[in-house]
Amino acid sequence: MKKVIDSRQNHPLFRQVYDYMLNRIDRGEWTVHTKLPSIRLLAEEINVHRLTVFKAYRSLTEDGKIYVKDKSGYFVSEEGFCSREIQEGNNCTNNAVPTTLSEIHRIPAKYQFSQALIDPNLLPNIYLSDYVKKVFDLYPKVMGTYANIQGDDELRESLCQHYRENHRLQLSSDELLITTGAQQAISMIAQVMLGPMDTVLIERPTYSKAIEIFRRQGARLIAVSIKQVGYDLAELETVMRTYKPRMFYMNPTHHNPTGYTVPAWQRKLLVELAEKYRCLLVEDDPFRDIYFNNPPPPPLFAYDTEGWVIYINSFSKYIAPGLRICAIACRNPLMEQLIKAKSLADNGTPLLNQKIFLHYYTSQRLQQHLGKLRIALQVHKEIMEEELTQAGWEWSAPEGGLNLWVKLPEDMSAETLFRASREQSISFVPGEICDPLGEQKSWIRLSYSFANEILLREGMQRLTALSRTL
Ligand SMILES: Cc1ncc(COP(=O)(O)O)c(C=O)c1O
Repeated sequence: MKKVIDSRQNHPLFRQVYDYMLNRIDRGEWTVHTKLPSIRLLAEEINVHRLTVFKAYRSLTEDGKIYVKDKSGYFVSEEGFCSREIQEGNNCTNNAVPTTLSEIHRIPAKYQFSQALIDPNLLPNIYLSDYVKKVFDLYPKVMGTYANIQGDDELRESLCQHYRENHRLQLSSDELLITTGAQQAISMIAQVMLGPMDTVLIERPTYSKAIEIFRRQGARLIAVSIKQVGYDLAELETVMRTYKPRMFYMNPTHHNPTGYTVPAWQRKLLVELAEKYRCLLVEDDPFRDIYFNNPPPPPLFAYDTEGWVIYINSFSKYIAPGLRICAIACRNPLMEQLIKAKSLADNGTPLLNQKIFLHYYTSQRLQQHLGKLRIALQVHKEIMEEELTQAGWEWSAPEGGLNLWVKLPEDMSAETLFRASREQSISFVPGEICDPLGEQKSWIRLSYSFANEILLREGMQRLTALSRTL
């Protein structure tokens, strides 16, 4: 139970109510000098004790985010109203270390190790342009109509077949929804499934935008450590029993940022735990096909017979990030709710993108591309590893994915290294951004997939040399 207690100490409930209120102010629900709900009302609304809300309001008052008027209640202060803008503005313009992934990606860098994207030169650009022409010949009116909200029928049928044949997933095309990238899928699931202060389990570390999405939705996050051997299932069961989470967001295959893969034996047990404690498993699986030697175990979805797993499978990473094609697989009634959310989000992913993707995806070329890509990425990974070995940094070699999760030498902080690297046009992701507890300050995520081999070696040599001067 140690980690659970840690997570509560680091993010006590009143602190989560504090963040939750700041989020709502940030979203414009209350503007400057407007009155906030009374302690009693808020406590009822989000189902926590009044004292917890009182502590959160007291901290917000002490930090100048809200103010109290005698006998009238609590009001949003100017500072509270502007705090987010100020924070973002500062991060973008001065030498402060960014606090989000998108801020990091906005900083131009010659040695690009922060983007978990594949070098566009390794993607099938020319072939895809052939398919664009083919799609216009086959469907001359493709731009003249909306797509089906749930996704193109032909694409869903062919994905179902692929999932059945390759991943042992038993589904019908009614149980698939095409979304505009995995990020939209995560956002829609959060919107549909979560009420204020619902508990969400999230891996530590994790894909940092997922942390942001769930926080924005007002969720209460509990961190679950992921290790090379998977999760500590006894601990996870205690967490599920204690906190009754609504969902567990996980990336169990070539996990971002660590590259770990949860073993097959745990997958079956995880589904049993989900059933027992009525906790949805949101399985985000964008790196399944990016492996070096052996394919990973089947998705958790393959073990689920009762509808406790939502499967998100994005194709952004290894086919075309620009097409933004992703599929969600889940059972009803959840699927119906997600289709409604999708209709409100964008009325359907562009049909042209879906058709181009479909024709490439069902062609022989995909397998040839994947074969070559795996070799190229392994070479990239090994270059990065060679340089890290010489520097004496620590990491666990992943079996797939796009990143290395690296422990810096004892006395070095990611923040100091980030500042110095920025001067030399080198970018990476400080570990704290991937940590739902905002710690892991001596870890960094290095992506080996985006920079070409020459820049990769040169940049890594610069980075490790730089670290010796700090
Ligand atoms: C674990 C994980 N989920 C989702 C995404 C976002 O995928 P997409 O580009 O399909 O929105 C990423 C991108 O890095 C990711 O690493």
